[in-house]
Amino acid sequence: MSISPKVTPIYQTSVFTFEDLNALEAYFQEPGQHYMYTRYGNPNSEELAQEINKLERGAGAVVTSSGMSAILTAVLVYAQAGDHVLCAEEIYGGSSSLLSNELTRLGIEVTYVPTADIFSLEGHVRENTKLLLAETISNPMMTVMDLAQLAQVCQRKGLKLVVDNTFASPILTRPLELGADLVIHSVTKYLSGHSDVTAGVVISKAEADSTRAAQIMRTWGLNLSPFESWLGARGLKTLKLRMREHSSNAQAVAEFLEQHPKVQAVFYPGLFNHPQHAMAKQQGNGLCGGMLSFRIADDAEAVNRFMHALTHIPFAPSLAGVTTSLSYPLGTSHRGLTKEQQEKMGITVGLIRLSVGIEEAEELIADLGKALEAI
Ligand SMILES: Cc1ncc(COP(=O)(O)O)c(C=O)c1O
Repeated sequence: MSISPKVTPIYQTSVFTFEDLNALEAYFQEPGQHYMYTRYGNPNSEELAQEINKLERGAGAVVTSSGMSAILTAVLVYAQAGDHVLCAEEIYGGSSSLLSNELTRLGIEVTYVPTADIFSLEGHVRENTKLLLAETISNPMMTVMDLAQLAQVCQRKGLKLVVDNTFASPILTRPLELGADLVIHSVTKYLSGHSDVTAGVVISKAEADSTRAAQIMRTWGLNLSPFESWLGARGLKTLKLRMREHSSNAQAVAEFLEQHPKVQAVFYPGLFNHPQHAMAKQQGNGLCGGMLSFRIADDAEAVNRFMHALTHIPFAPSLAGVTTSLSYPLGTSHRGLTKEQQEKMGITVGLIRLSVGIEEAEELIADLGKALEAI
């Protein structure tokens, strides 16, 4: 009897057996055809990596235990003690903590580039600068980065461009095609899509960078478990459908919020008044994703009343699941910034971030409308 499952089974094993010395030799001669130890490689993590690599059109991908370990891997591919890295100032708080609090202790210096200087990098590049880290769409103000322009300046300055493509997903944007060298994702978000996985991925334009990323993943022990890999691969199968639905729902919700008298401002690239609207549409393949932020009165009690009055939308400080949730940047992701930094970025008491899911848009709008009336 031969068993051939349609779906890859979960190889929930930490180690693989060998028949004899010839089988061991085959493992070393034909990498990717055989497995030895799950930290080095496992069919489930390989499947997830290969599927994401196809979507991002890379030369190779490595999955990791989290988005954070993907960022760590990406930086270590290009930088070592004595090197300097640049980072866009509008960046996920965990990325800046990793760079400022941890990698500096290993001798890697970091400078944050103000948004106004990002396309010139004037005065920020040193002889030992190796890379620039930036996000396709920033959190929580949804600033969209012109990646082709950024890649050009990086090339001129001899820097590698590392792009965190988490908020966009490869359905909207493929940074490698626009000139980036490495792409990372928190697979925890859209790629998995169901709020039940913590994972990351590094995708490379050059095969040699992928080999190096795999070495770092194995040696630092940043591997992803077989079950999380399996869940990720399963989620990925519906990514395209989900991104279309996230985007059309977010557009409808943004348009609703924009005209509501209790809403002072809406930040969504799909709105005409968004500063990068035209570029975002073009770079996003006509889609703007499911993330948006909006501002109500800068009054914590009003925010609490709004949260209490929602029936279907929970306050959950993550994003990109199939069901809608909201987050509060001032109290979660951007809590560690100084008051001046928060104000400069527009992160005020009344700023709420929505991760718009794939429910019926009318239901979401009804829930939001009811809660806005309650403030
Ligand atoms: C843009 C972005 N990059 C990276 C991360 C880190 O990912 P993880 O939580 O999977 O480690 C996050 C987490 O929220 C994120 O939003």
